[in-house]
Amino acid sequence: MAGNKREHWNSSLGFILATVGSAVGLGNIWRFPTVVVRSGGGAFVLLFLIIVIFIGVPLIMAELTLGRKSQKNIVSTFSTLAPGSKWWLVGFLAILTVFLILSFYSVIAGWALIYFLGSLFGAFAPLDTAGLTQVYGQIAGHPFLPVLGQGMFLTATVFIVISGVTRGIERWSKVLMPGILIIMIVLLGRTLLLEGAIEGVLWFLRPNLELMNLSTALDAVGQVFFSFSLGMGALLTYGSYLSPGENIPRNALLIGLSDVAIAILAGLIVVPALFVFNVEPEVGAGIVFVTLPAIFNTLPGSIIWSSLFFLMLSFAALTSSVSLLEVSVAYLVDEKKWNRTAAAGGLGILTFLVGIPSALSQGVLANRLFLGRNILDFIDFITSSIFLPLGGLLTVIFLAWIWGTNKALTEIYRGSPQFRWGRPWVFTLRFIIPLAILYIFITGFF
Ligand code: PHE
Repeated sequence: MAGNKREHWNSSLGFILATVGSAVGLGNIWRFPTVVVRSGGGAFVLLFLIIVIFIGVPLIMAELTLGRKSQKNIVSTFSTLAPGSKWWLVGFLAILTVFLILSFYSVIAGWALIYFLGSLFGAFAPLDTAGLTQVYGQIAGHPFLPVLGQGMFLTATVFIVISGVTRGIERWSKVLMPGILIIMIVLLGRTLLLEGAIEGVLWFLRPNLELMNLSTALDAVGQVFFSFSLGMGALLTYGSYLSPGENIPRNALLIGLSDVAIAILAGLIVVPALFVFNVEPEVGAGIVFVTLPAIFNTLPGSIIWSSLFFLMLSFAALTSSVSLLEVSVAYLVDEKKWNRTAAAGGLGILTFLVGIPSALSQGVLANRLFLGRNILDFIDFITSSIFLPLGGLLTVIFLAWIWGTNKALTEIYRGSPQFRWGRPWVFTLRFIIPLAILYIFITGFF
């Protein structure tokens, strides 16, 4: 839409719900609880919170500030703020990253959608854990069902993005986010009522220091990046739809805390349930697609619980995938003057095609391994563990050392003149975050 004025969020609340929607997703609902169980319960939660404060929230602020200042997509943000330099390449790295993440994220979300429909029709209700394990293998390994699920999920994503920032993303976030919260609270009530649940709650909150080690810290940092949607331009793009009056530090804190709160809520739903049924928590998709349905099946009204759970998971994934697609749609619309429908539709189809190998990675293509991982896990690994932290690192270096922290602070003060944490924020961006990320890269690779 050449020449049109850039859209802005209709309200602060709408912006916050959309951004929290981007952050809250598969990362909170299955990844967080399983990582917590593996890495030391309460101690990991504590470490996670420290990283949230020192790395997560300052980085949310950094991305929102860059986006609001430039009022542009990720590529043009770098080229406008550092004209004549090669920094716009970081924007392309981000576009490549969102594209790859969306290609496998939509596959897992597609499973969630299939499980929602299956639950609704009672397809899983008669099964025990062994039966559910088999069904999970059949669904994820089916020659075209996962492709169908992925296609349906991407269609929903494209549909929302086509409707635009306020009429699509903002409006849907206002419906889906409260929906997620309500379903979670209902499920929490249900699991906490189980006999023995309190044991699980205590375990979840009690620090278990023996399980902590160096790799726990790495897990925690990776989890914060993925869960906060950092390092690939989603928050920057959402920040570019902000008006100057918005208070960036307050919003960043609110977004970070909401994401953490929902992750903890998910943990409090999943972990006590595992304890009550004495299930050895295993990491990965199994917990969501096998263990939880098995637990629901022992309860009266299992169809309701399992449908609610998978509906919530699909909603949560949808508000995240919308933000992934919007990063590259914003680029095509701003820079290449594409219309929104063509941009979202075209990229949706391309993502679908690129995602097909991931969709088939548990079935027909299960033998194709890269570094010992199947296609889906391999793309997950290179994006989450390499591209996201790399994007985050380059973004902070750009803000703190190239564009300049004074300009960043000036931009922040426009909406929050009373902000008093400017110096600690700058210090964190200049030293703590780059060193922490470099450290992860070095220890991760050697
Ligand atoms: N934050 C999302 C989640 O927790 C995933 C995501 C990553 C979304 C990167 C956008 C960008 O599931």
